[in-house]
Amino acid sequence: MIKVLFVCLGNICRSPTAHGVFRKMVADAGLGDSILIDSAGTAAWHEGKSPDSRTVAHAAKRHYDLTDLRARQVTVDDFSNFDFILAMDKENLHNLRALMPKDFSGHLGLMLENSSPEVNAKGAIDEVPDPYYDAEQGFELVLDLLEQSCAELLERIRLVHLSGQKA
Ligand code: 4NP
Repeated sequence: MIKVLFVCLGNICRSPTAHGVFRKMVADAGLGDSILIDSAGTAAWHEGKSPDSRTVAHAAKRHYDLTDLRARQVTVDDFSNFDFILAMDKENLHNLRALMPKDFSGHLGLMLENSSPEVNAKGAIDEVPDPYYDAEQGFELVLDLLEQSCAELLERIRLVHLSGQKA
């Protein structure tokens, strides 16, 4: 079982979007029993809340259901429980590095670190921009970036970690 945790600041916009997009891709690939997915925020501000209503609405237009997700803050135990911890931006990554136990043997990095030039051409370089104070198109950009990077992440996990299993 490969365990993947997506992390942003509030856990109500970007990381729940990654959670819902990746969950659907994994299920569609028949890998739901091989890959466990969760999301969290570096801040506790929205603990227990549903994703932002704009996040839910934009995701629903692309057939991702985020309504069951609830925000939580990342904890030091997450480093024991997850193999991949993927931060949406560099500030999230900085805060995660500060929390990371020295003996963490998994992968901590940026969500877009392996993204192709097409993703980066959308202007995000290597970060998923925080849409919280943005217009509606910010939520569409988050979805565009995460759909592509989640597909790439799934390919990478399949090739490197699941190549002996059903594909
Ligand atoms: P997220 O977006 O980190 O993608 O969930 C944000 C959500 C809430 C806030 C900031 C960013 N906030 O300031 O409450």
